[in-house]
Amino acid sequence: MTILKGRALRATATAVMLAVFGAPAMAVELFYVSGAVGNAVENFKTLVKPWEEATGNTVTLVPMPASTTDQFGQYRLWLAAGATDIDLYQTDVIWAPQLADHFVDLTEAAKDLAPTHFPSIIASQTVNGKLVALPIFTDAPALYYRKDLLDKYGKTPPKTWAELTETAQFIQDAERKEGKTDLWGFVWQGNAYEGLTADALEWIKSYGGGQIVEPDGTISVNNPNAVAALEMAKSWVGTISPEGVLAYQEEESRGVWQTGNAVFMRNWPYAYGLGNGEDSAVKGLFGVTTLPVGKEGDTSAATLGGWNVAVSKYSTKQEAAISLALYLAGPEAQKQRAIAESNLPTIVALYDDPDIAAAQPIIPQWKDVFLNAVPRPSAPTLGKYNEVSAKFWSAVHDTLSGNGTAAENLELLEADLTDLKGSGW
Ligand code: GLC
Repeated sequence: MTILKGRALRATATAVMLAVFGAPAMAVELFYVSGAVGNAVENFKTLVKPWEEATGNTVTLVPMPASTTDQFGQYRLWLAAGATDIDLYQTDVIWAPQLADHFVDLTEAAKDLAPTHFPSIIASQTVNGKLVALPIFTDAPALYYRKDLLDKYGKTPPKTWAELTETAQFIQDAERKEGKTDLWGFVWQGNAYEGLTADALEWIKSYGGGQIVEPDGTISVNNPNAVAALEMAKSWVGTISPEGVLAYQEEESRGVWQTGNAVFMRNWPYAYGLGNGEDSAVKGLFGVTTLPVGKEGDTSAATLGGWNVAVSKYSTKQEAAISLALYLAGPEAQKQRAIAESNLPTIVALYDDPDIAAAQPIIPQWKDVFLNAVPRPSAPTLGKYNEVSAKFWSAVHDTLSGNGTAAENLELLEADLTDLKGSGW
């Protein structure tokens, strides 16, 4: 047996690599832009490693702000300018109709992969027959509750918002008397951005107040149930929720929750795995349930979220980018992401995967929740969704800040949306 050393060894290794993966001269570096929430950026290197090793290509993740609204604003500028230096975009479920023209049609490339995903999720990324992005995970929020604190006070997870308000106030008062002065009853997302649209849609829908704009395009938001829902949320600010909640996004709420300073939190499943992490003050102390309803008999409403990967039309490395998109949306990456980030897969079979169920029990438990989740009105309002949402979250934020009543703000919103709609969306 010949023992290879130095240059000879390197030359042989290169020859093997060439035979298996193709010429390294063809290897490319791809740029992938994605919001930085939870441990997604940290996990990305591990997530893409198998693809990098198999292809010889490399991927650089360009981290973007956590807010989907900020990401959208930036991406729209880059895409409008035809930026060639970004190959792939991680896209929110609501963006497909507005950004469709800038992305490569993935229908043909994903013809074997797409049928393994939930059809409704593939449909949400299909615009006029074009598959504009491939789903990498779906999202539907949970009500996180502190089991230890509920048990201590003989309380059960709330079924209605009124019950949540009462339990949160009760435990907050009692714990503060015992010296836990930083404890709050309920944290959520009150900043003026897309996340507030998601939270407020849940309050309104679960109060029987509709979905802002209905699937047939009707503007429904100005109604007494919606008014009642927003007035209820306003009553939390400064009582069971800190004033600062009006500036919170997902990560700020998780910060309060994970340091043990909240009884309840509304957040997406990514907070589940992190909450059970070694460095979490609430590890093993919490449970998750569906969001409360307005009154008994109403149905709980969870806003449908989720993320996808899209290939830019302006990328000069489209072939490699498509290969990466297929990998990121495929079963291996989705399983890794489910276990490491507690993100809900979009591939049907992964809901029966024992490793996922063992690592992140919320995942099989959440299948029915996301399948019944309420979509934001991005499909009916087409290219105008971002403006619809911005007007909606502003009206809600004004109400929560005491800048006008819910009734006044929803009346103004209705007028604004009617103008925006014009003769049709
Ligand atoms: C989550 C959802 C996304 C939503 C965002 C709002 O990331 O997956 O769809 O738009 O939260 O903050």
